[in-house]
Amino acid sequence: MQPCKPYVGILTALRVARIGGATHNAEIAPQIGHGKTGMYETLKLVHIGTAILTISGFILRGYWMFSGSPNLQLKVVKVLPHIVDTVFLVSGIALIVTLNLPVMSQPWLLMKFVALVVYIVLGAIALGRGKTMRARTIAFLLALATFAYIVGVALSKSTASWFALI
Ligand code: HEM
Repeated sequence: MQPCKPYVGILTALRVARIGGATHNAEIAPQIGHGKTGMYETLKLVHIGTAILTISGFILRGYWMFSGSPNLQLKVVKVLPHIVDTVFLVSGIALIVTLNLPVMSQPWLLMKFVALVVYIVLGAIALGRGKTMRARTIAFLLALATFAYIVGVALSKSTASWFALI
């Protein structure tokens, strides 16, 4: 049996508000068609899941790099991060499409793109391109800080990141 329309509307708003930053999601809730709520939840789950996977993988590879482990040379260790990162980025873009977000007028979203590029470059320096161990260590720490900044941007929907949540 199909639930009545007002009930679906309230349920949708509640589910959306429960998933993330309440203020923002309450604002965007009307933009998601009823049929798209399940899609939004799934995409967000995939996006957050792959965000956790990508940073966990980065820390693990950093540990292997600093401890001189041969694991870094394994084919799976070289290929898997690209697959995870592709799913991660695609899920972010799919969220933009599902939410009908106007990218150019959302500074937090533009900042996410920029910071993601910074994170990728720092990560590449940290995991091999850096010539000295000192350069790699600094790049590794800066990459972690950049990632933490992006999580703050994602949660606050503000370029001020964690400072906007204080
Ligand atoms: C390292 C990079 C990134 C991290 C750590 C990250 C993390 C997150 C997190 C934790 C959320 C959930 C926020 C909440 O609870 O409301 C989120 C939502 C989202 N992310 Fe990302 N993200 C990253 C990159 C991106 C990129 C590159 C895009 C664009 C292609 C993107 C687009 C989005 C969108 C559209 C949402 C949904 C916002 C909403 O529900 O209102 N993210 N991200």
